[in-house]
Amino acid sequence: QTIYLSDYTVPAYLVDHVDLRFELFEDGARVHSTLSIRRNPESGRSDAALALDGDSLSLQAVSLDGRELQESEYELSDEQLVIAGVPDAFKLDVVTWIEPQNNTRLEGLYKSSGMFCTQCEAEGFRCITFFPDRPDVMSRFRTRIEADRSAYPVLLSNGNDVDRGDLEGDRHFVTWEDPFPKPCYLFALVAGDLVEKRDTFRTCSGRDIDLRMYVEPRNAEKCEHAMDSLKRSMRWDEEVYGREYDLDIFMIVAVDDFNMGAMENKGLNIFNSSCVLASQETATDAAFQRIEAIVAHEYFHNWSGNRVTCRDWFQLSLKEGFTVFRDSQFSADMGSPTVKRIEDVTLLRTAQFAEDAGPMAHPVRPASYMEISNFYTLTIYEKGAEVVRMIHNLLGSEMFRKGSDLYFERHDGQAVTTDDFVRAMEDASGRDLGQFRLWYEQAGTPVLSVSDEFDEDAGIYRLTIRQDIPDTPGQTDKKPQHIPFALGLLGSHGESLPLRLAPDEQDAPDERVLELTDSEHTFEFHGLDERPVPSLLRHFSAPVRVQYPWTREQLLFLMSHDPDGFNRWDAGQRLTVDVIRSLVGKPKDTPVEPRLVTAYRHLISDSELDQALVAKMLQLPSEAYLIELSESADVPAIHEARERVLKHLAIALRDELVACYRRNGDSDAYEVTPEAVARRSLRNTALAWLLAINDEEARELAVRQFRNADNMTDRMGALRALVNSDYEDDRTEALETFYEQFQDDPQVVELWFSVQASSDRAGQLPHIRRLMAHPAFDWKNPNKVRSVVGAFAGQNLAAFHHSDGSGYEFLAEQVCRLDDSNPQIAARLVTPLTRWRKFAPAYSASMRAALERIRDKEGLSRDVYEVVHKSLAD
Ligand code: ARG
Ligand code: ZN
Repeated sequence: QTIYLSDYTVPAYLVDHVDLRFELFEDGARVHSTLSIRRNPESGRSDAALALDGDSLSLQAVSLDGRELQESEYELSDEQLVIAGVPDAFKLDVVTWIEPQNNTRLEGLYKSSGMFCTQCEAEGFRCITFFPDRPDVMSRFRTRIEADRSAYPVLLSNGNDVDRGDLEGDRHFVTWEDPFPKPCYLFALVAGDLVEKRDTFRTCSGRDIDLRMYVEPRNAEKCEHAMDSLKRSMRWDEEVYGREYDLDIFMIVAVDDFNMGAMENKGLNIFNSSCVLASQETATDAAFQRIEAIVAHEYFHNWSGNRVTCRDWFQLSLKEGFTVFRDSQFSADMGSPTVKRIEDVTLLRTAQFAEDAGPMAHPVRPASYMEISNFYTLTIYEKGAEVVRMIHNLLGSEMFRKGSDLYFERHDGQAVTTDDFVRAMEDASGRDLGQFRLWYEQAGTPVLSVSDEFDEDAGIYRLTIRQDIPDTPGQTDKKPQHIPFALGLLGSHGESLPLRLAPDEQDAPDERVLELTDSEHTFEFHGLDERPVPSLLRHFSAPVRVQYPWTREQLLFLMSHDPDGFNRWDAGQRLTVDVIRSLVGKPKDTPVEPRLVTAYRHLISDSELDQALVAKMLQLPSEAYLIELSESADVPAIHEARERVLKHLAIALRDELVACYRRNGDSDAYEVTPEAVARRSLRNTALAWLLAINDEEARELAVRQFRNADNMTDRMGALRALVNSDYEDDRTEALETFYEQFQDDPQVVELWFSVQASSDRAGQLPHIRRLMAHPAFDWKNPNKVRSVVGAFAGQNLAAFHHSDGSGYEFLAEQVCRLDDSNPQIAARLVTPLTRWRKFAPAYSASMRAALERIRDKEGLSRDVYEVVHKSLAD
């Protein structure tokens, strides 16, 4: 069942036009489809039968050029409808019956809180009707939706509404026409009782675009932020990429039941409610920022994904990597670039590096897959974005823009490959990216081992960088990759030194991007009077691991002197990681590095520093990151060592933390600016640290903040601090009050679930089971599953990795249960178990046993099968 990139062939038939008519009812939907089909002149297989994909469809009728076909004239299997001996060009009418109300997989057409909606990427369209469900078949769609008028007053699809009217029996219809040819994965349909929020946007060429958001009536007041984000995205894409919106209408719909974050259907983006709805009272700062980024991401897909799409699903990163890169540039421009970079790298280093070192490791352009849904990964998205970022850094922004202009111009309306993207960049810039293409082909995170020496007499500093790319499943003995390595050198007073590559070089820059292409390079820097401190891989110029024998002295120095904000933060992380790791498994009275306290005191107390950066620097490295860095992780021991450092810092800095809390008190009006976000982050970090040491004054501050907060960030900050404290009564009371106040808001209830499930205090297994028995918990709703089961296994690591193995057994049980109803979500949930090789023997053995239990489940879905079998393979 494995599909290989090397087997790609062009489609035998093309579909120029698709005419759809949906009859929506409570007990099912009838889908009439008329396809205008012709043989693909490029295919060269003139005798090929027509093969259409179909999944869970009940075929009611099929006719060819108006003549109904008998059962003997076609072949119908679970996966395909095959018709042999078709003419060169013809019309095919197909009628299928589907049951959206029973669709728990949330692929194709399904129902979510009473409304009909769709998710077709990657292969959901085949759950609606028979079709060549592959992105290189692009068609013009016309869609007529018919439904009960009072239950479904709003009927939406892609493009422009061209007709509407009444039908018998209180029914009505709307017809939509999308002028742009598109692959069927971009098809969308929505029918429901929704309120409409309108706005307009005037494009750079002076066209007025109708912007419309559709949400359930109770969410009417939660649209403003997404709408503003959309307008900022549209403007930004014009200014930075020269991309103007093409249709007259742009619509966003919020649905509660959704497998992923959001979907870029042409002109009709569909969002998971949690990724689009926000108000000051119900959404945290993190949610506001995530929503802005996702709205931008889906909007940017209109060019990077829709106008230029993927030839096949191996090219997924063509649209996802590029679009993530674009949305991260956008977020950097809207807020603090350094903070955005820190957030992206944190995700990459904790989760993508782990994926790249695990059994599911795959290249940015995979060579094979069993189930494409399993390849919507951090590697495709985040590493893919880093690869585009490296091209940007190698070419410079001007040449990169030329390259992207050429790419959009050359391939507009086409379905193309990552190679086409790189070629456009090469052609526009004149640079050779031949070796660079290995980033798309080779999996695994390159390891750069850096060593240095200083020749005092000659004044030469020599830096040697070796690269090694670890073996990954199916790939060994890799070739060296082309790696941009940004470097600075600092003198003993923190000054930036010129990087002279020759003794007589004039006006040498104080930062250089070294290009690594061989497995080892030595660079010589001339004219230095003293041994410099290197600032390596500035702004994380490549997605690699850097090994260098930093002394704690050097890290402390970089932490306060490196002009590169990212590396300043990184030095702090490395230092704290080093201190925590040195305490893992050590007796409780092992002293904690005293200079750590001094460094953090400086950060907390110096209000002259960039507070947004300080807020980030005060976040201790996560348990997940500490696990990722270890060879044979003992999670409870890591957890304990990290807690020890946190408490040690909190005790030593108690007064400074209280002062920091007060200094960063309420500001007037709630705003989501980098400064305001940093202030709230600082006060809530201070609160969390103080409650970790049972500080009575902090307890009062937390209770007061919890009650009086006028925004969710502060309310949640106080709740989280109380939940993670030893003050059990306050915790219970706060959780109850919170639920009472917000029980009617699903997104807030999800926060309420996850704050408990991710807490090692509140979230022990018996409590997790209680949460799953709570009336607000719902197996059919992916957000609820993620906020309880996902938060427990992904964030409550000490409880999940309980030495009795109960956490693993629990997860296996939930995966098996979900596998029948929603395989996509079940397969995602397995992820923590797939990392079993990373853990100390006692743990890994029972993780393995849990995986075997899942493997042995009867009727395992293809999604879970692939993940489990790859994880168990040696
Ligand atoms: N293209 C969407 C996005 O990144 C994600 C769709 C994921 N769908 C899926 N079945 N995995 O914006
Ligand atoms: Zn995307």
